[in-house]
Amino acid sequence: MEILRKKYILSRAFKLKRFIKKWAAYLYWKCADLADFFYVILRARLFRCLDFCHTVIRFYPKNHRFAKTDFAILSEYWLHPPFSISKRYLQLKLEPDVYQYGETPLRTMEKIAQYAHISKGDCLFELGCGIGRCALWLAYFKECSVVAIEQIPDFVDFSQTLVEKDEFLKEKVSFIKADFLSVDLHRATVVYLYGTKMTDAQIELLILNLRKSPLKTTVITVSYSLNEIIAVSKNYAILKERFLIVKKFEGEFFWGKATVFIQKKL
Ligand SMILES: C[S@@+](CC[C@H](N)C(=O)[O-])C[C@H]1O[C@@H](n2cnc3c(N)ncnc32)[C@H](O)[C@@H]1O
Repeated sequence: MEILRKKYILSRAFKLKRFIKKWAAYLYWKCADLADFFYVILRARLFRCLDFCHTVIRFYPKNHRFAKTDFAILSEYWLHPPFSISKRYLQLKLEPDVYQYGETPLRTMEKIAQYAHISKGDCLFELGCGIGRCALWLAYFKECSVVAIEQIPDFVDFSQTLVEKDEFLKEKVSFIKADFLSVDLHRATVVYLYGTKMTDAQIELLILNLRKSPLKTTVITVSYSLNEIIAVSKNYAILKERFLIVKKFEGEFFWGKATVFIQKKL
């Protein structure tokens, strides 16, 4: 009888130990996930503050018109973050992934412009320009013509009001509300695409669309090169375009680092 009781107690203790172990592991992973989540948010916020300070110190004194326009953008989106506007737009479109929005920090854009040798004579197409900060920075600081295409009406409408207020911008920048996959790229000497959530099929469409752009057009992409997409494409035979990577570097983005590819159309 005594032995049976001991066996029973032992088996209960063993079950309890297993239960505690299982829950401890579960809680550990949940906490680790939460910690990761808050770390990423905190890092992004901190990086955003640093980028703001960098912009104010480095770019505002050099160009007061840019300072005024950039400040207007930051004020407009202070209470309505672009990320939420984009999320709402994608929810209405019933997109499965509504977390697609991101921005290129201006100091990363400065590096891109330097490595891609963007200059006054260029006509740059920004595919998916978001709130348009980069497009405006490029116009003010590189003095190139910019065609900025975006699908979210709220972003385009506000950017257009800014252009209307500045004679210099009126000449240099046009914001277009459209799907960038159907835009004519024949004038583009530089194309900038930060679209890390695009599907391979969409990128293939874009590559076909680039057929119309001049030879040696510079195409800048983030996270992947166009040749990588072509290499694994089922339509390899149709996609005759090839690109030469002239430079790649690790760019800082708000959510972490990503490789920026600067390639020339051959
Ligand atoms: C990752 S954000 C990049 C914003 C900006 N280019 C930057 O680097 O700061 C991508 C933007 O592309 C827009 N976009 C995505 N697919 C698009 C499409 N097919 N046509 C037009 N805009 C698109 C999204 O609405 C979003 O604003």
